[in-house]
Amino acid sequence: VENVGILAMELYFPSQYVDQVDLEKFDEVGTGKYTIGLGQSKMGFCSDREDINSICLTALHRLTERNNINLHDIGRLEVGTETIIDKSKSVKTFLMTLFAKEGATDVEGIDSTNACYGGTAALFNAINWVESSSWDGRKAIVIAGDIAVYGKGPARPTGGAGAVAMLIGPDAPLVFDCGVRASYMTHAYDFYKPDLASEFPYVDGKLTIKCYLNALDNCYNLFCKKMRNTNSNFKGLLSLDGMLFHTPYCKLVQKSLARMCFNDFLNTSPSDREKQFPGLSQFNNHKREETYFDRDVEKAFMTYSQSLFEEKTKPSLHIARNVGNMYTSSLYGGLVSYLVSKSPEQLIGKKFALFSYGSGLASTMYSINICKDMSAGSKLESLIKSLNDTVSMLDKRQCVQPSVFTELMDVRTKNYHTAPYEPSGSIDVLFPGTYYLVRIDEQRRRTYERK
Ligand code: ACO
Repeated sequence: VENVGILAMELYFPSQYVDQVDLEKFDEVGTGKYTIGLGQSKMGFCSDREDINSICLTALHRLTERNNINLHDIGRLEVGTETIIDKSKSVKTFLMTLFAKEGATDVEGIDSTNACYGGTAALFNAINWVESSSWDGRKAIVIAGDIAVYGKGPARPTGGAGAVAMLIGPDAPLVFDCGVRASYMTHAYDFYKPDLASEFPYVDGKLTIKCYLNALDNCYNLFCKKMRNTNSNFKGLLSLDGMLFHTPYCKLVQKSLARMCFNDFLNTSPSDREKQFPGLSQFNNHKREETYFDRDVEKAFMTYSQSLFEEKTKPSLHIARNVGNMYTSSLYGGLVSYLVSKSPEQLIGKKFALFSYGSGLASTMYSINICKDMSAGSKLESLIKSLNDTVSMLDKRQCVQPSVFTELMDVRTKNYHTAPYEPSGSIDVLFPGTYYLVRIDEQRRRTYERK
């Protein structure tokens, strides 16, 4: 099989959001802390009407509906999530209700979990399956979804919620490069969820940033090395048309691109540095591991990389800025944002890299090529068209005051383990076609309906 990759995509984000300007006032932090300091504009959230099963059902149903997918043609369904509401039963098994209705039950795949990395793990499983001897000729679907919520405090404005669904198969317009994925995995307690009685993580904010940037250093250098094995002319960032990142908040992504340039600087021989990086010689003796919070390095390389950021990365941040961190789906929301920012003609033949990071920690950098031939061109056109429809729904959302948002969050928190339970969140406010939680019975079994 050839050109295995993404054939179609769908995105789901909640119909309600809180404005970060309002949240700054409500939280009594300095004006600009969330909007300029973190680079966030709006944060999507779910009331108790939605849970991980319902948002993944919504994304899956939308994908199949918009692309007329016959569920008998799907041989694998994978889910990536860190929103765990059952220690045994997977989200995938809930999604099977749609398949079982059609009598389609011969479907491999199950959930993958490690913080924001699960979606990438699920995606790799699907790609690997299509490229393997186990493949039976059918397509795969990958769903990455999460509800990202934090307790009251500095992490709360970095929440969000959403799900992305992807159809995977051969002859795709978005093709994955083979043999160059670069991973960095190790143990860290930067962000984790050991308290199974709570929806909130334990998070050491500063450590998450250090771990994220350190993982980026490692993945980027290894990725370049692997790319150069197949193409000795590969020049890292300069050979890429786009650079996409897992996006906890947009400011970290801009710093990450600067960090990649700092790596390029360190990897350039001292004699060539002045030519390629004029005026930055004062950093000649700086070390990677000592500069994660070095303000001077950060500032100098942010300035250096400003135009690279505008060109290669900023177009991928639209959804992250307006919805917030969608955890496993964040990187794929970045892909959606990037695609809708361009026309098919602008995208044909382009190459971009993606950096996936999940605390704890698991990370990979890999690359996607946009196919050159015309049949892929028409597939790309319909992919972008359907994504444009979805992304335009950002403007149809309802803005909610921070006080109301906080009340709705308190209801979620208070009832995280209540059973039996009837959610009180509004059904009216949901977008048409959204699945919602009807009730949880005394055996904690959940029932859903579609609006
Ligand atoms: N105007 C403009 N900028 C401001 C203002 C203001 N009035 N006040 C503060 N800022 C800036 C700060 O200078 C800082 O930016 P800088 O680092 O570029 O200087 C930024 O706003 C954040 O403020 P801090 O006080 O440094 O950070 P805070 O303690 O509020 O926490 C953090 C931020 C750590 C990101 C927190 O929200 C958090 O823990 N989030 C969850 C963890 C996370 O997302 N980690 C990322 C990777 S892991 C993952 O994906 C979960």
